Amino acid sequence: NPQAIIFDLDGVITDTAHLHFLAWRQVAGEIGIAIDEAFNDSLKGISRGESLQRILRHGGKTGAFSPEACAQLAERKNGLYVHSLRQLTVNSVLPGIRELLMTLWEERIPVGLASVSLNAPAILQALDLSACFDFCANAALISRSKPDPEIFLAACSGLGVDPKQCIGIEDAQAGIDAINACGMLSVGIGTGLNGAGLQLPATEFLTWPCLSAFWQHDK
Ligand code: BG6
Ligand code: MG
Repeated sequence: NPQAIIFDLDGVITDTAHLHFLAWRQVAGEIGIAIDEAFNDSLKGISRGESLQRILRHGGKTGAFSPEACAQLAERKNGLYVHSLRQLTVNSVLPGIRELLMTLWEERIPVGLASVSLNAPAILQALDLSACFDFCANAALISRSKPDPEIFLAACSGLGVDPKQCIGIEDAQAGIDAINACGMLSVGIGTGLNGAGLQLPATEFLTWPCLSAFWQHDK
C-alpha cells in the first residue's frame, strides 16, 4: 500500500473552483478585464496573489496597480468568495469522495491535504470532513504556488512519509506537475491533464480498489 494519499481540495473534494471563478470574474470586471471559464483553468492551484497577477496580465494591465491596490483587489475577491462559501453544506462533497475517505480510514492509510487555499480549513469544516485528514499542509507557510512541489512536500513531511511512497490527486495541470516534481504517483481528475500517472474522468471513479490497483501496477 502507499504510505499516504494526498488530496488537492478545490475541484477534487468539492467544486469550489467555480466559486473562485465567479468571485474573480466580478473583481476583474470591476477593473475592466473579462475572464471566462477557460482562462479560469489556468488559475487552478495558483495562490490568490499570483492569480491576480495573471488576471492583470491577461487584461494587459500588468503594473497598472500599486501593491496596496493589488492587496485590496485580492481582499475584495476573497470577501466575495468567502461569502459564496456559505452555500457549502455536507452535500457539497463531490461524488465518491466521502466514501473513499472512509475506506482509507478503514484501511489505515494516512490522508493529507495539499491546498494552497487559506480558506481550506473552513471549507473542510463546512463539509464536515476535517476529521478525515491526518494532516493539512498550512498554506500560510508556503511561499510558492503549484506547480512548485512545496505544498505536497509539506504535506508529506507533516505526515512523516516519503513522497516516493505516496499518491497525489489533482484536477489541475499545475497540481499534476507539482505531484510529479516530488516523485509521487499522480492521479488526475478530469480531462486534458498531461503527465498524470492515472487519469479518471470524474471523482466518482476514484475508489480504493482503483487506487490500489494503480499503486501495485506502477510500484
Ligand atoms: C487553490 C485554488 O486551491 O487555492 C486557486 O485552486 C486559489 O484557484 C488558491 O486561488 C488560493 O485560494 P484562497 O482561498 O487562499 O484565495
Ligand atoms: Mg484543484
